Amino acid sequence: MRYIGNNINITVNDLTVSYNDEGPDNAPVIILIHGFPLNKSMWTNQVEALIENYRVVAYDVRGHGKSVSGDEDFSIELFVSDLLGIMDVLKIDKAVLCGLSMGGYIALNAIENYPKRFNALILSDTNCIADSSVAKEKRMKAIENIRENGVEKYADESMKNLFAPESFATSKEKIITVKEMIVKTSIQSLCNTLHALSERKETCYKLPEIKMPTLIMVGKKDIITPPSTARFMHEKIKGSILNILEHAGHLSNIENPYEFNYQINKFIASLNQYNNGKEKANHSKRKTIF
Ligand code: MLT
Repeated sequence: MRYIGNNINITVNDLTVSYNDEGPDNAPVIILIHGFPLNKSMWTNQVEALIENYRVVAYDVRGHGKSVSGDEDFSIELFVSDLLGIMDVLKIDKAVLCGLSMGGYIALNAIENYPKRFNALILSDTNCIADSSVAKEKRMKAIENIRENGVEKYADESMKNLFAPESFATSKEKIITVKEMIVKTSIQSLCNTLHALSERKETCYKLPEIKMPTLIMVGKKDIITPPSTARFMHEKIKGSILNILEHAGHLSNIENPYEFNYQINKFIASLNQYNNGKEKANHSKRKTIF
């Protein structure tokens, strides 16, 4: 039985995971994975734009939002195992997978290891490279700073990198909301995730193996995963679509939701067309993208 609504708890890998599940039964499923150190509420605007036609599942990665941390050391592989566990418990055989930044690291790892469970990929403000030694060092410094000075200071410093400069003037409420998300994340989860991010493996060499429809989006002013990284992935994933969003930094879905939602809706509608085209071309063999 499917439960529809927000902040629903399920047990996955012995852990209580909180998720939202909205939209019609039997509609194509889209799973949204948030960035670090945010939570599923960062997708509010996208959920509203998609639930008329799609079943939209947004969940809190362990240790974020309302999902419990558990005792294990975090890793992208563990997050992927949670994702697959959620799909199994919710009986989602196949989905369109959409991840922003850390969500994109999880999505790339999942697609590369479990391609049969997904029918399309949306990568937003993310990249495929591993942390350099300098980046790893920065993460270790951040862990020290969080332990010494607390989350509030870490949140203030993070904001400068998460948003485009213009957003500080145009989107004050969004900035407050994002800061609240960061401050609500426990110190243990922040540090555990920073460590996991620093240890993540490169996935670039596997990009040419991605054969499913892929949409790549990035904020023009993203300084964490800049447009050059998106262009690189676009070149490696054959047939992928690249959109560089104006008026946005790293949190492009929050800073420019109008364009972000337009691009997602267009992309998903094109999957339907692809599907219909296939059906016309091949009457005898039904092959659905959803
Ligand atoms: C995120 O938004 O998920 C983070 O910026 C990812 C990272 O720090 O690598």
